Amino acid sequence: MTDVLHCPSTSSDPAPPLRCRPVADAGELAAHHAIRHEVFVVEQGLFAGSDLDAHDADPATVHLVGLAGEQVAGVVRLWPHGDGRWHGDRLAVRTGWRHLGLGRPLVRLAVRTAGAAGGELMTAHVQVRNVRFFQALGWSPVGQVEDYLGAAHQLMTIALR
Ligand SMILES: CC(C)(COP(=O)(O)OP(=O)(O)OC[C@H]1O[C@@H](n2cnc3c(N)ncnc32)[C@H](O)[C@@H]1OP(=O)(O)O)[C@@H](O)C(=O)NCCC(=O)NCCS
Repeated sequence: MTDVLHCPSTSSDPAPPLRCRPVADAGELAAHHAIRHEVFVVEQGLFAGSDLDAHDADPATVHLVGLAGEQVAGVVRLWPHGDGRWHGDRLAVRTGWRHLGLGRPLVRLAVRTAGAAGGELMTAHVQVRNVRFFQALGWSPVGQVEDYLGAAHQLMTIALR
């Protein structure tokens, strides 16, 4: 089982190799959920109690993890609308692991995964502070900033073909 409780200890530690992939087993899925809880329930307070929803129980949903060495340090989830559109959400990197280059490859892998599954367009409700992060990855804003989960979000899309 992958342990999600460790953080990088000292700045003199050698940087562990970073990689992203779908969860490999039940332990990694639990680690994926634990990071979402840590970031979206505890840190950001976007959800009360749990951020789990029906998409997590849907076998069509893909749960990705970003690994720093053998530790799960980042996550993202994607699921199909069923009409060629896929939705990406729950992108999160643990606080101690941010700005090391995990968030960007997680988004790229989500886009590649949706495209490989035959998707045509991917959508995401992006927190306003992260719009530039997504724009740098090729995503475009659609419409106006709206309230979503009680916080300002921008709908963004990227073509998958
Ligand atoms: C947003 C988040 C996933 C980014 O993860 P990360 O691992 O820090 O991202 P990376 O290290 O891959 O960053 C890649 C680049 O984007 C930049 N970047 C990171 N966050 C950014 C932001 N909010 N706005 C603009 N640029 C940003 C980094 O500086 C880096 O640029 P550089 O390579 O030129 O230095 C992370 O900050 C996070 O988990 N935040 C809390 C949860 C959250 O907001 N989720 C997204 C909901 S829409």
